[in-house]
Amino acid sequence: MTTLGIIGAGHIGSQVARVAVANGYDVVIANSRGPETLADLVAELGPHAKAATAEEAAAAADVAVVTVPLHAIDKLPAEQLAGKIVLDTNNYYFERDGRIEALDKGETTTSELVQRALPDSKIAKAFNHIFASEITTDGSPAGTPNRRALATAGDDADAVAFVTRFYDEAGFDTVNVGSLSESWRVERDRPAYVVRQNAEELTANVERANRLPDPRSRRGADAGSSSRLGCAHRHRLGYQKLRNAARNARMPRWRGLWGRTANSNLSGSRGS
Ligand SMILES: NC(=O)c1ccc[n+]([C@@H]2O[C@H](COP(=O)([O-])OP(=O)(O)OC[C@H]3O[C@@H](n4cnc5c(N)ncnc54)[C@H](OP(=O)(O)O)[C@@H]3O)[C@@H](O)[C@H]2O)c1
Repeated sequence: MTTLGIIGAGHIGSQVARVAVANGYDVVIANSRGPETLADLVAELGPHAKAATAEEAAAAADVAVVTVPLHAIDKLPAEQLAGKIVLDTNNYYFERDGRIEALDKGETTTSELVQRALPDSKIAKAFNHIFASEITTDGSPAGTPNRRALATAGDDADAVAFVTRFYDEAGFDTVNVGSLSESWRVERDRPAYVVRQNAEELTANVERANRLPDPRSRRGADAGSSSRLGCAHRHRLGYQKLRNAARNARMPRWRGLWGRTANSNLSGSRGS
């Protein structure tokens, strides 16, 4: 049995935990406030999940998922994650994370920053351009016409292969956009960001992405915001929309995982 160590138990972490348990993984999950605050979530997840500190989750992990706000990546347990595949779900929201000049200038990517924080880990991008709520509702079996696709990127072939397998188990096709330095193609405010797309559409969106986002063609997180709005306001709207979509995903009983139904009240997660 593969143990997934999930650092971050919010919108994305709790959803990745749900698909992992449903697909036969053991899960050890952590937040910043301590394992006792995750009692409801692990009770919901069942006997194959337990709560731990971030260090314990990292140490227990065969494969880890880092799904904390980008501003927290320097606090990750790098030593316990050394040598391991680490899935990086992070996005850059300057409204939350503060300004990071190298990202604003297009000189690096969020995944490269995670790689820098975890220099001995094998980083691969995962689940960064899908709303958290859709991780358990939008999957479908391999071969389903128009199956939703998600992107990965990575410098390590094993890490990319793991994401590809995990996506398939969760119900998604994979598009590999290349190295971590290319992962900007599926970052915020690019055409592929938080829109439903099949592999062909995702590939096309990845190819037409601009290195720096063009506010006039912004889609996804703040799709529909008026061109009359100022840039900063549009960014703020985009972040609020992402937060609200996740917060409103109450899913008292969530259907997904290809028709299986389970109880869920998103206990243990907070707004992003
Ligand atoms: N929400 C979405 O739909 C979505 C979609 C794609 C990608 N993302 C990205 O994925 C990442 C996570 O997003 P989210 O929405 O899941 O965030 P979230 O709901 O705010 O959850 C963040 C989690 O990280 C934990 N955390 C923060 N600092 C930590 C630390 N030092 N050690 C351990 N755990 C720590 C928090 O714990 P406490 O609650 O105890 O502080 C919380 O459980 C972000 O980079 C976000 O931009 C989000």
